[in-house]
Amino acid sequence: MGNEKAKKRILTGDRPTGPLHLGHYVGSLQNRVRLQHQYDTFIIVADVQTLSTNFDHPENLSADVRQVTLDNLSVGLDPDSAKVFVQSMVPQIAELTVFFSMFITVNRLKHNPTIKTEAGQYGFEDNMTYGFLGYPVSQAADILFCRADLVPVGEDQLPVVEVSRFTARRFNELYAPVFPEPQSLSGDTARLVGLDGQAKMSKSIGNCIYLSDSPEDIRTKVMSAVTDPARIHRDDPGHPEICTIFSYQQAFNRDESPDIEERCRAGTIGCVACKKRMVQVIEELLGPIRERRARFEKPGVVDEILLAGTEEARKEGGRTMEMVRGAMHIDYFHPGGQ
Ligand code: TRP
Repeated sequence: MGNEKAKKRILTGDRPTGPLHLGHYVGSLQNRVRLQHQYDTFIIVADVQTLSTNFDHPENLSADVRQVTLDNLSVGLDPDSAKVFVQSMVPQIAELTVFFSMFITVNRLKHNPTIKTEAGQYGFEDNMTYGFLGYPVSQAADILFCRADLVPVGEDQLPVVEVSRFTARRFNELYAPVFPEPQSLSGDTARLVGLDGQAKMSKSIGNCIYLSDSPEDIRTKVMSAVTDPARIHRDDPGHPEICTIFSYQQAFNRDESPDIEERCRAGTIGCVACKKRMVQVIEELLGPIRERRARFEKPGVVDEILLAGTEEARKEGGRTMEMVRGAMHIDYFHPGGQ
């Protein structure tokens, strides 16, 4: 069981909390687009997971679900092959979450590094909801409802995917081998530094370049980004290893970056010239993304894509639940799925 699929499967996705940024692009989106035809690809718009922190703002979801879908389409995800769907509209994910929660311990969740870091960020340490603590279990259900094999995610999500791997193993051991053990896959750039030099681009800090930013936004943001504070004059020797813009050169301008590094250290390229080049590089990346977005922005297009993707996801969820109920001996009235 579990291995009868014609192609291996990808499941990944995003919380609809606002526009996606370049950190998402290097962490996961790039891999999704690269692998979408090699794998049978499911992309989840994780609206229920958004409620784990935003339960008091459900009114934003309707727009954000569409926004995050557009972001995925704009980077080149092909809706004729990838299935983009809404988490809350696939009831099998909620069912699986309940079954998995019976055998995942609270301790495993409490000690999860991602949960600990995020709890700190949101100030939840001493008072966390059941749903927030349990979001890795619900994410295991997101991944396993379609028996996925591969999960492209940013580095910060690796411990959460580890819970899915454990869940698959434990389920298979306890009941019957239904699930593949999903592998995670991170982008070449482990984590993209924020424009302010902080460890990571994050919407809540407001240090991001968004995929939907205009050319003017890009210019303003890059030109005012934090660089090496030791460089006051153009010919001061620089320290590219601590420079935000240099880390972007490495992520987005790989071919030129060794030369820029040398010239920065020698003080023969100034920060302004280096930033101007970065503005061009990012515009070359985001220009075509902006154009593709405009094509999908026509009324009704995104909704149609989501409805079709959700339909497919529900079908696949139905197949999985049949196997799950069989394995757990809770198929009382239709044993064997007849
Ligand atoms: N937790 C992920 C994030 O915050 C979003 C997500 C939800 C996800 N379900 C998933 C990612 C399943 C990969 C697989 O970015």
